Amino acid sequence: MVKTPRSPSGPGEPVPEPLRAGATVLEVLDEGGANRRIRVRVEGWPGFAAGQFVMIGAGPVMAAPRTDPLLPRPMAIYREIDGSGSPDLEILFKVGGRGTALLSEARAGDVVSLVGPLGTPFPGAIPGEQAILVGGGTGVASIYQLARERTRVRDGSVSVLFGARSAGDLMGVDDFEALDAVAVSIATEDGSRGSSGLVTDLLAAALADGIDSSRARVYACGPVGMMRRAAEVAKTHGIGCVVSLENHMACGFGVCLGCAAPLSAGGFGLVCREGPVFDAEAVAWEGLP
Ligand SMILES: Cc1cc2nc3c(=O)[nH]c(=O)nc-3n(C[C@H](O)[C@H](O)[C@H](O)COP(=O)(O)OP(=O)(O)OC[C@H]3O[C@@H](n4cnc5c(N)ncnc54)[C@H](O)[C@@H]3O)c2cc1C
Ligand code: FES
Repeated sequence: MVKTPRSPSGPGEPVPEPLRAGATVLEVLDEGGANRRIRVRVEGWPGFAAGQFVMIGAGPVMAAPRTDPLLPRPMAIYREIDGSGSPDLEILFKVGGRGTALLSEARAGDVVSLVGPLGTPFPGAIPGEQAILVGGGTGVASIYQLARERTRVRDGSVSVLFGARSAGDLMGVDDFEALDAVAVSIATEDGSRGSSGLVTDLLAAALADGIDSSRARVYACGPVGMMRRAAEVAKTHGIGCVVSLENHMACGFGVCLGCAAPLSAGGFGLVCREGPVFDAEAVAWEGLP
């Protein structure tokens, strides 16, 4: 059963202290294609706020030489589900490289290293917010908790726009559709599900459809090009846009400087600590890979 969120996500509100722990794998589910859902139990899990992430070990502890691969991988906390005592965690991921391949091979009872919750969460809602959430590929994993929380905004509305290359790349659609009062739309590049084209085309159409710009806000997570375009489309309509960046990370808590993102005001921001959530206007998009 899915756990009701307990954690705050208002600006300036305290977020739970991160924990460094061994997470016991409960199951790894095949979600079709390269998509996987891992459920883990973390004793003493402190809760999280929408937009935060964990650094999770690449595969079970001791299953591979610890230099192969050495680094854990950043993964959004998709949601909490009812566990025994404290809630269990779900993470949605796509098998791409060595780390996620090893993680996908974890079995029930294996222990993976985990540090979290980490990062600065999404800001609190504006009054009566019309939230338009845009998720590209695995980026949807970062916005599920946000969608749930925004359904509780008085006089507000929540739309979620999914984008993927093809139907087989979509993840989590059924979970979002199961949320009360969330309107889900899908765009696939090959037209195999939903409308044919880019999710940012869906966004442009949604914003052109007489939205109240004083109450609307766009939230985007996915490939850099998609987030950048989403920010441009939102700006054209005078609507604010918040993004969650997915830069490579080595440590996840501000030590290695490997995740630095260029800022429009000059200098860099650490995605793991100042982010992953940023106002789109604060990001120097041309400097991101
Ligand atoms: C906050 C956040 C949340 C995320 N949430 C999700 C999620 O929920 N689901 C999901 O599927 N993906 C998510 N991602 C993306 C995910 O972390 C990457 O896709 C993942 O690291 C890929 O690992 P891999 O083992 O598949 O690939 P690999 O190919 O093994 O590793 C990734 C590549 O990055 C390189 N690399 C690793 N660290 C660094 C570094 N510090 N500097 C430079 N290069 C480096 C590796 O050498 C390698 O080439 C998230 C990323 C961030 C930052
Ligand atoms: S990942 Fe090490 S400083 Fe951000």
